[in-house]
Amino acid sequence: MSTVVLSDQFSLVNSWINELRNVETQHDRLRFRRNMERIGEIAAFEISKDLDTKEIEIQTPLDKIKVQEIAVQPVITTILRAGVPLFQGILNYFDKADCGFVAAYRKHDANDYFSIKQDYLTCPNIDGRPLIIADPMLATGASLIEAIKDLLTNGSPSQLHIVVAIASKQGVETIEKEYPNAKIWVGAIDERLTSKGYITPGLGDAGDLSYGEKLQR
Ligand code: URA
Repeated sequence: MSTVVLSDQFSLVNSWINELRNVETQHDRLRFRRNMERIGEIAAFEISKDLDTKEIEIQTPLDKIKVQEIAVQPVITTILRAGVPLFQGILNYFDKADCGFVAAYRKHDANDYFSIKQDYLTCPNIDGRPLIIADPMLATGASLIEAIKDLLTNGSPSQLHIVVAIASKQGVETIEKEYPNAKIWVGAIDERLTSKGYITPGLGDAGDLSYGEKLQR
């Protein structure tokens, strides 16, 4: 489908991404989570313009009126734990949606290289429904591809939307190649990845900044 970069034209989204990245503001966890949420809210608003609609009739206190409404409610999903604030922003707007969750983490070896471990999926039927996946940091794309594979065992969605706060160029290209029908909504795209798979300049570890530094196991 296509990739939309939400910061290409300056808006408040740029200011929120600046705060997410800035070492002087990113340690305010409430603000960090809320800025992620706000990006999710804007993405949800934009995605809503792409959804199929149906005509319904409603009764106002004065008369009946025929209006447009979302034809099929989306399923909103995320990858635990870093994706939760971005996911919550999308759910704030699509408040009638169903939701699904995937758990995945980077298992680091002695040299700090990692593989993706995934061990939990709970998701409603997505057959014929728009599927929205919130993944705040699209680095190599490896964990997102694993998550999408798992989610698609629950049916064949009518549309696939991927919402990302910050992506690497490589991550976007990988997902575009693997899922050409998906639409990616990304806050900003950064040029590089570090040897350890972090987006640079990026913002650091989105999960740790939202919820506190985890113990490495
Ligand atoms: N996950 C993060 O939290 N940050 C990155 O840079 C890449 C993946």
